[in-house]
Amino acid sequence: MKKSREPQVNLFKKSSPYKGKVLKNEKLTPDIGKGKRPSKEGASDINRISIEIDHKQLPYVIGQSLGIIPPGIDPEKAKKGGENTGYTVRLYSIASPTYSIGMKEDSVEFIIKRDNTYDEAGRAIHKGVASNYMCDLKQGDEVDITGPSGKTFLLPNSDFDGNIFFCATGTGIAPFYGMTVELLEHKLIQFTGNLYLIYGAPYSDEIVLREEFETLAKNHSNFHFITAISREEKNPFDGGKMYISHRVRELGNKIKESLENNGRVYICGGPKGMEKGVIEELQKIVGDTGDNKEYQNKLKSSNQLFVETY
Ligand code: A2P
Repeated sequence: MKKSREPQVNLFKKSSPYKGKVLKNEKLTPDIGKGKRPSKEGASDINRISIEIDHKQLPYVIGQSLGIIPPGIDPEKAKKGGENTGYTVRLYSIASPTYSIGMKEDSVEFIIKRDNTYDEAGRAIHKGVASNYMCDLKQGDEVDITGPSGKTFLLPNSDFDGNIFFCATGTGIAPFYGMTVELLEHKLIQFTGNLYLIYGAPYSDEIVLREEFETLAKNHSNFHFITAISREEKNPFDGGKMYISHRVRELGNKIKESLENNGRVYICGGPKGMEKGVIEELQKIVGDTGDNKEYQNKLKSSNQLFVETY
């Protein structure tokens, strides 16, 4: 067993980035027209990208992010003139546990969705620069990395017996994959509570790493894997789309009891502001009738709520 470690930040900057090498780049979602998503909604391409790094030089902690610098010149900046015409650094959540999968200290992983928009015929009409750069990487390609960044969206750093609830939408699953592996398998701390992963996606075949999560649930009786498939399932409360907030409501008593006993709730994903709905459910569950933001701050200051939405 290794000890958990303190997060370090800004070890590498844009002016002298860390050079990582791509080990693997794997698409996790079906091709357009081949899955549950109708073609007219375009593609939802989510990739898992693994990059070779030396942890002695770049010692990240799960919950932190790394910056990626897409190569080339940003046409918008070039139009304006000036010297610094390179692309801006894009931050991506780390998806692999603190010492890499299997504690090998040899890599970092990301789960990234192509940030594209599509027309009715399924053609991309806008393509995000950095996400497409990352999803197109080939084995052996070199990637400029900055960071790490982030000191707040972290797991407990000492033994923990409360229950933990991870609430993810879309690629918000990224940090929770690494966190789940770290808590259940790597055991950097003794975690003796129950872990609930509530994972929302539009279609059932866009739940990525399903097999890995199901295997973890089979091997660890304290891990509960729960999905909310918005465009396939209806919630039992008003018959509308099934969102993670409805799953939170279903777990009401369990969450109430957990929050009274040092439990923690982590929320990650998009759209920005989606945490509000989840936190409103928490408020109802515990019977808090005050302002949403105030309740959010109260939970955050007692280290019971951690939010990263975008
Ligand atoms: P939907 O888009 O069907 O309304 P992705 O990032 O892959 O699009 O997934 C985001 C998931 O989060 C989708 O299932 C989406 O549902 C769902 N979602 C959208 N808005 C909210 C919200 N306010 N609270 C919870 N889930 C949401």
